[in-house]
Amino acid sequence: MSEMEDLCVTACTRCPALVDSRSRIVNGTGPEDADLLFVGEGPGANEDAEGEPFVGRSGTVLDDGLRDVGLARADVRITNCVRCRPPENRDPTGEELEHCRGYLETEIDRLDPEVIVTLGKVPSEHLLERSVAVTNEAGTLEDVRIGGEPRRLLICVHPAATLYDRSQKETFTAALERAAELAGVGEGGSGQTRLDGF
Ligand code: URA
Repeated sequence: MSEMEDLCVTACTRCPALVDSRSRIVNGTGPEDADLLFVGEGPGANEDAEGEPFVGRSGTVLDDGLRDVGLARADVRITNCVRCRPPENRDPTGEELEHCRGYLETEIDRLDPEVIVTLGKVPSEHLLERSVAVTNEAGTLEDVRIGGEPRRLLICVHPAATLYDRSQKETFTAALERAAELAGVGEGGSGQTRLDGF
């Protein structure tokens, strides 16, 4: 079995409600040695249909945001706190988050990323194990132990937040810029292209 296959959960029945609502398990995507790991909440309808995280409207916002800081989707790894779509797009319960925790910790251990970027309240609170006021705390870097290992975690608003509230777009882009800078990838700077001035 290759390392990537090893990172893919192919069968799991720990959460009865999610087993009922999912049509498939949605595993993380992207290089297994990526410097940046983005962690969302859980698959929505589009992700459940396509089998890949962040492929709906939120995914378009994420892809655009990455491009704005000189990164492509293929440069980063993207995963979720839970790998099965919750019914009616509700938040995953504490129990469901715990059931999926081991898969996420294995993914984090294998990647050993420079920075973990949490997209929204659920992943921020899950990995920091405290309440998080995401809008206020977006762009904040924290040292945290995950599975006993020290990790750097950057809080970011969920991409969908920029769709409901345009003022969150700047917060979102600034956090991505900081993430790229910290990981030493992309442009990690002003967001201007290298062709500016030509
Ligand atoms: N929102 C998430 O948190 N994760 C996805 O994969 C898609 C939307």
